[in-house]
Amino acid sequence: KKATNQALVIFGASGDLTYRKLLPAVFDLFMNNLLPDGFAVLGISRSQYTDHAFREKMKKGIKEFSNFKNAESDKINNFLSKIFYLSIDTENGEEYVLVKEKLTELNRKFNLGCNYIFYLSTPPSLYASIPKFLYGQGLTFQQKGFRRIVFEKPFGHNLLSAKELNKLLLEFFEEDQIYRIDHYLGKETVQNLMVTRFANGIYEPLWNRNFVQHVEITAAENIGVEGRGEYYDHAGALRDMVQNHLLQMVSLVAMEPPIKITPQDIRYEKMKVFRALHPLSEYDLKNHVIRGQYTASTIRGKHYPAYREEPHVAKDSRTETYVAMKFFIDNWRWADVPFYIRTGKRLPTRVSEVVIHFKPSPLPLFRHEGSSDKLNNQLILRIHPDEGILLKTGMKVPGNDYLVKSVNMDFHYSELSNQYIPDPYERLLLDCMTGDNTLFMDGEAVEETWKFVQPILDYWENHPEAPLYGYPAGTWGPDVADRLIEGKNDTWRYPCKNLADDGM
Ligand code: BG6
Repeated sequence: KKATNQALVIFGASGDLTYRKLLPAVFDLFMNNLLPDGFAVLGISRSQYTDHAFREKMKKGIKEFSNFKNAESDKINNFLSKIFYLSIDTENGEEYVLVKEKLTELNRKFNLGCNYIFYLSTPPSLYASIPKFLYGQGLTFQQKGFRRIVFEKPFGHNLLSAKELNKLLLEFFEEDQIYRIDHYLGKETVQNLMVTRFANGIYEPLWNRNFVQHVEITAAENIGVEGRGEYYDHAGALRDMVQNHLLQMVSLVAMEPPIKITPQDIRYEKMKVFRALHPLSEYDLKNHVIRGQYTASTIRGKHYPAYREEPHVAKDSRTETYVAMKFFIDNWRWADVPFYIRTGKRLPTRVSEVVIHFKPSPLPLFRHEGSSDKLNNQLILRIHPDEGILLKTGMKVPGNDYLVKSVNMDFHYSELSNQYIPDPYERLLLDCMTGDNTLFMDGEAVEETWKFVQPILDYWENHPEAPLYGYPAGTWGPDVADRLIEGKNDTWRYPCKNLADDGM
């Protein structure tokens, strides 16, 4: 894929995302020779920078976060010469004439073909006004070149605001100009969920209610809120991770094979999963959704503050930093198969994975090592780190007895090629530049996922007495979450059992 000439216009360019993710990813595209010959980045925000000062800042980010941090300085300088900066008050519509002027200038200089991507790396409070102001300058019309607009998460704060935003945006852009980012979809291993399922003949026949006992999806982080207290305290884990990243993974695990690998066909199949999510009843809301918040703890002499002690977090905050839940998907493939998902901050390790738990063989003929008398095969798709796939299978322990032991058939992504695994932003930016929206969320899907989580938000709001369990930083969240999982001897998988042995 190679993009045509264009400019990438980043609003909120002085922020962390541009520094850590966006510009290093664009630089990686440059180093991989995937940028068009005519290309420019225009960074926009309120802070005052000269082009030179902004370039110097971006250079630091590239040297720290790019996959080509050791690139020759000639290369880096060549790339930096394509970067420009404009300081405006993004909340003042009149100043957008400056954006237009600057783009006209860059267009001439780099022969951009009037192709512009507007990337909103700003607080969501500007998601409605920036598109309106761009529209006011005629910058959203596509008579000459293409115009695309990219939104970072969170897209909406609840179902109502997501709907309102979708509706409003359609006044200024067509749906196919709108790119809603979920960076999980840019992860190689998340895309590999579809490949594993549909490029192999052996998994798909088993991938259904006849053979699968339950599905478990985890996105655990060892970090806390990392200076994002102000945003996080108004969001919480449900909005921050479940409504988007986790439900996107659910859709890729549960979807039917698409007719073809086209954006329309894939989006259509994912949408069918969202629509089939069984609405949570009052009973489910009370018993099958567990929330927690980390409390202080000391691990190997190091003190970790409680969530409520984090900067910009209310001292009596009831925001959840952990969610675990159980739900069902009402379709022929998955009826009655429980899906368990969980996510949390300040857990013992950083790991995202999908675990397909298969039903045991009908009769336990053999003795098993360990406590369980039945072996459940598990297929573990590791999203990160140590990207790969692991299949747990029972094998005979050598000796004069039929003793079965569970062993791992373990594939590591790093063995597949010696190429680095691209950052999600590298892939997603390239897709947006080439006009491929397969890995972006459409407006309808966003609404459907909000529709599923909205009753949880309402329940917590209307039942302040609903438990918010404390869990010490560095543990796997509230113990009660274990009780969610049906079946004797079944618990969540604990990829690193030893507290604080990894990560913290
Ligand atoms: C972001 C959330 O979308 O995803 C963060 O806002 C979270 O709170 C991050 O830390 C996790 O992403 P990853 O790729 O590290 O799992």
